[in-house]
Amino acid sequence: MYTSRIAGMGKYVPENIVTNDDLAEIMDTNDAWIQERTGIQERRHIKKDDDNTTATMGVKAAKIALERAQVDKDDIDLIVFATLSPDYYFPGCGVQVQEMLDIKTCPALDVRNQCSGFIYGLSVADQFIKTGMYKNILVIGSENHSGGLDFSTRGRSVSVIFGDGAGAAVLTRSDKDGHGILSTHLHSEGQHALELSLRGPSTDYWVPEIIEENPQGDDIPYYPYMNGQFVFKNAVVRFSEVIMEGLQANNLQVSDIDMLIPHQANLRISQFIQKKFQLSDDKVYNNIQKYGNTTAASIPIALTEAWEEGKIKEGDTVVLAAFGSGFTWGSAVINW
Ligand code: ACO
Repeated sequence: MYTSRIAGMGKYVPENIVTNDDLAEIMDTNDAWIQERTGIQERRHIKKDDDNTTATMGVKAAKIALERAQVDKDDIDLIVFATLSPDYYFPGCGVQVQEMLDIKTCPALDVRNQCSGFIYGLSVADQFIKTGMYKNILVIGSENHSGGLDFSTRGRSVSVIFGDGAGAAVLTRSDKDGHGILSTHLHSEGQHALELSLRGPSTDYWVPEIIEENPQGDDIPYYPYMNGQFVFKNAVVRFSEVIMEGLQANNLQVSDIDMLIPHQANLRISQFIQKKFQLSDDKVYNNIQKYGNTTAASIPIALTEAWEEGKIKEGDTVVLAAFGSGFTWGSAVINW
């Protein structure tokens, strides 16, 4: 059986930095509240007049990942694109990336699993490589949140958290046993689907019963709704469970973790996990302070930065873990 390994990573974030003080100028919020509750100091927002979209940011990250992986774009067998903020409701961003990278007719698919999207995408790619069907797969997580948030005081508990950006990984076939992606673990629990949700743009006329039950109400149909405290409570439990599940599946202990990269949901969630597992600061990577929560992009951006900063070395045990809307959650255990 084959295994897959991450041969190259890349990231792209828009240049435009939006600080907490910048947000305080347009809504009733303040730097102290945001930092205390989330750890976020600033985030990046696309500017209306630049060329950044979810797909184009994904392409920028992908080009770096391809170059680092030394894989030619024409050797990509599959594109997996994770996002909750696609440029079009349909088609997905995967086919846009294929066109922009000028890759002929390889399959492209979008994963719609929000904060867990990159881990779901990685898992899909890993299975295709393990079965021998494909050799090289491009996995992208990218988000343009700023285009779809309510930046009035009404939306402040959601809009201060999220930021824009993209990360990408090139997975390639490896024949070295015990190396690369050791396992992935995925879960979802649809009963909490509406606790962190955004109605589709064409739902108004065909699912009145959903609209009736939808906590977003009819008056604010197209902004995300988040039951923050409920999400927080579930996140800390599921993060812990799925990290342990990954370790146990590989006969590893918490002490074997060289680097834990949690989805950058909220610094308080990461700190809770770090404390629970008694991991030292150098074993947990956080950059939410700079970028906010970039959902599907957060893990590949963090993984890229950790690698660029020399914090991940060959042979290290790297654990990725995410939780988010759905609810969905997952982990990946990697021998780097
Ligand atoms: N600035 C100032 N005040 C605010 C803001 C803001 N941006 N947002 C809300 N408030 C106010 C509220 O109106 C409320 O005021 P009130 O007491 O007068 O009614 C008060 O602050 C407390 O509001 P809560 O929503 O109860 O604040 P909480 O302490 O729960 O913090 C937060 C909100 C940060 C969203 C928190 O619940 C949280 O972190 N939840 C986890 C969810 C998460 O991380 N989501 C990320 C996306 S999901 C994912 O990636 C896993």
